[in-house]
Amino acid sequence: MDSPNFDDASDMSIPTMSVNNKPVQIDGEARTLLVHFLRDTLGLTGTHVGCDTSQCGACVVMMDGRAVKSCTVLALQAQGSDITTIEGLISEDLHPVQAAFQQHHALQCGFCTPGMILTALDMIHRNPVLDEEKIRHELEGNLCRCTGYQNIVKAIKSAADQIRSE
Ligand code: FES
Ligand code: FES
Repeated sequence: MDSPNFDDASDMSIPTMSVNNKPVQIDGEARTLLVHFLRDTLGLTGTHVGCDTSQCGACVVMMDGRAVKSCTVLALQAQGSDITTIEGLISEDLHPVQAAFQQHHALQCGFCTPGMILTALDMIHRNPVLDEEKIRHELEGNLCRCTGYQNIVKAIKSAADQIRSE
C-alpha cells in the first residue's frame, strides 16, 4: 500500500483536497471513489467499506463539515474540499463523541463505529435539540451489524449534551 501523499500541493494544475487538515494531491483513475482513495492511496483505513452501494454508512467521512458516504463520491468530486476522516479526530484526548461511545459501550465489533461517530458529529452540529427519536431518524443510513443501537443512541445523546454544555 502506498504511503500518504502529503507533499506540497501548491501546483494548481494538479487536483488537490485537504484531508485531516493536510493538502493531498488526487491521483489515480478518474473513476476512483473517495473511499478507495482514502483507504488505498492514503492508507487511512479507519474509513470502512461495508457495501459499496450507499446502504450501510461504514464509509462516512466529513466533507466540508457534512457527513457523506464516501462510496458515493468520486475522489475528483472532492477536489478543493476539506475531508475529515476518523483519523482526523485524533488528539491527546478522545473526542467527546468517541469518549461517549466508550463510556456507553456503544461499539461491539467496531466495524460501523467510524461512520457512526462522524454521522453523530454531523447531526450534533446541525440539530440544536437531539432527542432519541431524532437520533434514530438521523441514523437511518448507518447500519450496525452487531445491532447495538440502544447504546449508540445513548452515546450520541450523551455526547450532544456534553458538547452543548461546553
Ligand atoms: Fe458506503 Fe456502505 S460502504 S454506504
Ligand atoms: Fe459491529 Fe456496529 S459494532 S457493526
